[in-house]
Amino acid sequence: MKFPENFLWGGATAANQCEGAWDEGGKGISVSDICTGGKFGQSKMITPVLQEGTFYPSHEAIDHYHRFKEDIALFAEMGFKVYRFSIAWTRIFPNGDEAEPNEAGLRHYEEVIDECLKYGIEPLITISHYEVPFGLTKKCNSWVSREMIDYFLNYCRAIFTRYKGKVKYWLTFNEINSSSAPMGALLNQGILNDLEQPTPFMSQPDIPQQRYQGLHHMFVASALAVQLAHEIDPDYKVGNMMLYACTYPFTCDPDDVLKAQRHNRVMNYFCSDVQCRGYYPSYMNRFFEENNIHIEKADGDDEILKAGTVDFYTFSYYMSSCQTADPTKNNGEGNIIGGVPNPYLKASDWGWQIDPKGLCYSLNEIYDRYQLPIMVVENGLGAYDKIEEDGTIDDSYRIDYLRQHIEQMGEAIKDGVDLIGYTPWGCIDLVSASTGEYAKRYGFIYVEKYDDGTGNFNRRKKKSFDWYKKVIATNGEDLD
Ligand code: BG6
Repeated sequence: MKFPENFLWGGATAANQCEGAWDEGGKGISVSDICTGGKFGQSKMITPVLQEGTFYPSHEAIDHYHRFKEDIALFAEMGFKVYRFSIAWTRIFPNGDEAEPNEAGLRHYEEVIDECLKYGIEPLITISHYEVPFGLTKKCNSWVSREMIDYFLNYCRAIFTRYKGKVKYWLTFNEINSSSAPMGALLNQGILNDLEQPTPFMSQPDIPQQRYQGLHHMFVASALAVQLAHEIDPDYKVGNMMLYACTYPFTCDPDDVLKAQRHNRVMNYFCSDVQCRGYYPSYMNRFFEENNIHIEKADGDDEILKAGTVDFYTFSYYMSSCQTADPTKNNGEGNIIGGVPNPYLKASDWGWQIDPKGLCYSLNEIYDRYQLPIMVVENGLGAYDKIEEDGTIDDSYRIDYLRQHIEQMGEAIKDGVDLIGYTPWGCIDLVSASTGEYAKRYGFIYVEKYDDGTGNFNRRKKKSFDWYKKVIATNGEDLD
């Protein structure tokens, strides 16, 4: 048997992309709630002032807030052992800076957790997944300010205390390293410098100094959260969460190799080096110097980082990219994370290059570096799905994608990697984070909701639903 006996098979979602009910139960506005819909090639907009008549996908999303029982029952039918979801910070602290948490929000997630436990599904909770309270953006430009550490810890204390004994696995910040690129500034960090004018999401004005100082505050907050979790419940396990963008040199030209190594370190390893090893890696000194970035640390920060390393490592994996030093190459068009297209790989309809073997390679690289238990907490194929006349949805392309990635996870386990779980992204269709559209679907479960605003939120099983059920039932042995 390739997969360990207690392997955590499941699926993943995030509150802002599936819950809807954006202003119910005392919820405040998050940074996702001010982003409009968009589509491939047409950026969604950040509108600090909500515009009448504009479509905001997070406001209704797939109505998981009201339908979570139905959805979790479907996950249980597939045999999920784990469900990764996020808590919307703004349901617990609507503006972010209140002294006391909002009871309605705490109760809601208690019900979600209880529903999981009813079926023997382990909750895996992301504490902050692209949903910083917009109130904190307005108050202090969010993670640019050190004040955020206290707001975040108040939030952590409220949920760690309330769900003690029911939850074991927590993740601090989703894809924390998305802030190694400009696209992470608003969604990951809540940073927005113009509070009046709409800005295209894909070309936010960028101030790297803010992003990296913001990351420092997040590292300290994450390390303190790890310590707090362990104090509140010694059985809590707290992980990091990385957007792992597997990077190859485009050719064996040493210039390409060095370029790839530098990119790889800043993009894929900087944040996890801090969160897993407990200190800043020396290679960042040169990067900070060359980019005129100065990190302001408070006394004691280095000790906090050291004392708050994570218990396990998690990441999302969708694609790989190539780096070249050749300026004449089409740099930046490889896929959303930049780079040059890899001639050996095909891309999804959204231009993300599909690379299952890159997952085996990445798992080995990561495990070699940290020797921590690992979970792949996002992976999947965003695709256009179609309901046939007989009502079925044949998503064989998704099955192919997942099969090849699961095979490669099996190979990595054979190589000795301590892989403990797999939660494919968007186990139920939801709103895309990068484009803000419904049309980019990932689920085993189809949701009848469309970008023109029509749809009744009905759920339908796709072909991949029964396939994944069999994969789980056979613990990854039967992938046909
Ligand atoms: C990850 C995020 O970047 O990728 C998710 O953690 C996101 O929130 C997922 O939805 C897939 O990206 P997209 O843009 O296709 O939704």
